[in-house]
Amino acid sequence: MTDLHDIVAEALAAFAGIEDADELERVKARYLGKSGRLTESLKGLGKLTPEARRDAGARINAAKEAIEAALAERREAIALARLEAKLAEESLDVTLPGRRRGRGAIHPVVRTWQRVEAIFRSIGFDVADGPEIETDWYNFTALNNPENHPARSMQDTFYIEDKDSTGLNLLLRTHTSPMQVRYACQHTPPIKVIAPGRTYRVDSDATHSPMFHQVEGLWIDEHISFADLKGVHTDFLRRFFESDDLQVRFRPSFFPFTEPSAEIDMMFPSGPNKGKWLEISGSGQVHPKVVRNFGLDPERYIGFAFGCGLERLTMLRYGIGDLRLFFDGDLRFLRQFA
Ligand code: FA5
Ligand code: MG
Repeated sequence: MTDLHDIVAEALAAFAGIEDADELERVKARYLGKSGRLTESLKGLGKLTPEARRDAGARINAAKEAIEAALAERREAIALARLEAKLAEESLDVTLPGRRRGRGAIHPVVRTWQRVEAIFRSIGFDVADGPEIETDWYNFTALNNPENHPARSMQDTFYIEDKDSTGLNLLLRTHTSPMQVRYACQHTPPIKVIAPGRTYRVDSDATHSPMFHQVEGLWIDEHISFADLKGVHTDFLRRFFESDDLQVRFRPSFFPFTEPSAEIDMMFPSGPNKGKWLEISGSGQVHPKVVRNFGLDPERYIGFAFGCGLERLTMLRYGIGDLRLFFDGDLRFLRQFA
């Protein structure tokens, strides 16, 4: 019985060091639990005389109250400390700057598109827009690329099951060349137009994506020659790249809708591909059969057309080795052009 004071002192000391509510309850059990130290001392009461029992009982109760009071105080202190910590953690610093909405910027390929338009407008070209879902007549047939002709496989595309109102097959246009026919059928020479826009093919690698952008160019009049094509296209590149010192080559090629035909390559002036050639355009003198599909007399009217890849121009301008970066949506990449 004499050690009741020790038990109380020990319990108080044990509670004082505890910061955690669960730990406090565990330590409490050591004193007030079923086999706790105070409970044990109650068990000895039975052997005492009634007077001694009353006396001892009162002292045990006093010890129990003292321990319970200390416990309650500690519980409250722990709860208060927890609340304070929570408030501190969630406190609002009204002096912090507000969260701003991110600033948008123009995508590098769209920037190229805008520059191309500005350059061609400045030399008298009209700018036309046309459908991305095209009939196979405009995309292929009118361009002297008949059904079942193997040249169609140069440009595999995404076909659409529905047909247009006149029963023609629909597809995602593989190039902007159908715009030659659409525009020329609605205008009279001199025809001088560019038609930039989205195009689609079943393609994917470092220089090809399934969706990409082309700009079509068409100049039809009575005496527009292949030399004019070389002059206009080369001058365009010099202005676009802001340099007269470009490595450009015209490489003989084939398109059903031009004769003769050439593909145009340019050398990377910088970046990981520095010194390598990259094809940028297909081009040529418009085929007489196509001029006839424009509703014009090919004996009288002649001219050139080209189709230039806007991603390719952007790659060359910024020295980018893989055009898929343009479409990954990675802000670390895109921010560099903002
Ligand atoms: C054509 O698309 C022809 N319509 C070009 C043309 C127009 C020739 C007028 C004659 C007269 P080609 O398939 O080579 O040609 O594509 C032209 C350019 O588009 C390529 O040089 C390249 O710059 C770009 N290009 C083609 N496919 C892709 C692709 N999958 N991803 C990115 N760019 C592409
Ligand atoms: Mg090509």
